[in-house]
Amino acid sequence: MEVDTRTDKPFLPYGRQHVTDEDIRAVVEVLKSDYLTQGPAVEAFEEALARTVGADNVVACSNGTAALHLAMLAMGVGEGDVVVTTPITFMASANCARYTAAAVQFVDVDPNTALIDPDRLERALQRDRQKKIKAVIPVHFAGQPADLIRVHEMAREHGAYVVDDACHALGASFTHRDQVYKLGGNRYSDMTAFSFHSVKHVAMGEGGAVATANPDLAERLGRFRNHGIQQAYPVNSHMAYASDGTPNPWYHELQELGFNYRVSDLAAALGRSQLMRLEGSLKRRREIAALYGELIRERFEGGEVSPLAVRPNVSHAYHLYVVQVKFDYFGVDRATVMRRLREANIGSQVHYIPVHLQPYYQKHSGTGPGDCPMAEQYYARALTIPMYPELADTDCERVIDELARALRRVGWK
Ligand SMILES: Cc1ncc(COP(=O)(O)O)c(C=O)c1O
Repeated sequence: MEVDTRTDKPFLPYGRQHVTDEDIRAVVEVLKSDYLTQGPAVEAFEEALARTVGADNVVACSNGTAALHLAMLAMGVGEGDVVVTTPITFMASANCARYTAAAVQFVDVDPNTALIDPDRLERALQRDRQKKIKAVIPVHFAGQPADLIRVHEMAREHGAYVVDDACHALGASFTHRDQVYKLGGNRYSDMTAFSFHSVKHVAMGEGGAVATANPDLAERLGRFRNHGIQQAYPVNSHMAYASDGTPNPWYHELQELGFNYRVSDLAAALGRSQLMRLEGSLKRRREIAALYGELIRERFEGGEVSPLAVRPNVSHAYHLYVVQVKFDYFGVDRATVMRRLREANIGSQVHYIPVHLQPYYQKHSGTGPGDCPMAEQYYARALTIPMYPELADTDCERVIDELARALRRVGWK
């Protein structure tokens, strides 16, 4: 365990996976079985995830980026199309569109939540008279559901798909007209992407999935995950069938180009085992968030440090805990605060550098500073502090104490 000179207290990273003996047993079982990949553990994981989020179909894949790319492929998005997302996200939410040569358009966020601003999306769709926008990717940033109802309504009217990026938000839900809708298991998006990277709620090392209610999209997702190989509906029927009309058992065809985005049985078994603990871990994350909220309000009465706002009628999954800090008020810059926290053995991060400011997007989407002012304001104040179920209440108190000290220079030379 890392221990620093300033404190003998253990290091608290901003996020951390938790692997139990039961998880290890589940993986060892696969290691002893006949299949390390393309075996029954993948299907068992897909079924477990479908049950958890209430989805009709789940296609597991190698990571969340692959999940988003598969969604683009399943929709047939490509050159000449435009895909809309927000700049406050991991860059994969935008990159997935570029992999297909589609253009990316960034719509600004609500600075209080860092979620897509539906009013700005409405204006972007109105300006798109040629209907080039083929898909909208709202991101449930930090684990908080974006306004899927409005996004879906506007996208449907425009003839665009909705692919929600729930890589932060496994287990989150929202209530609409007294009905609870889980992310991945509702009709307000066409496909939902999940990531099971190690810092996520369910850690598979690397892993991802797409959930969809649409069986045709599910079929395409499954096909593009495995190179594009298909057996049904052969084009070269003279090769597919024997002279007596029976199908040749070895025969398969490539009609549309896919990728190897499969997930291994090892990762799937780990994921399924971890899924069983999801409810308990979400409960603890919500308790931690409530405690942080109280501590922050007590400590920073003037709102100079504040949690992100939580939208009404949502159940937040708290993958991340982000605070907005008015660094100018304290007369200290963010790098100094992060360094001081690190010296106190507390990890912090910044989620995210707005994607429209990445040089790649400046070059390929012609974006730049000032394009998404709310995202830029949010970014200037963003700081992610530790959030994972194993944090004790005393750890949370320590985090907020040290944050106050780092900002106010109390106890610092
Ligand atoms: C919002 C978001 N989308 C997509 C991804 C991509 O997931 P992965 O890392 O599993 O490829 C991530 C991963 O961090 C993410 O945070």
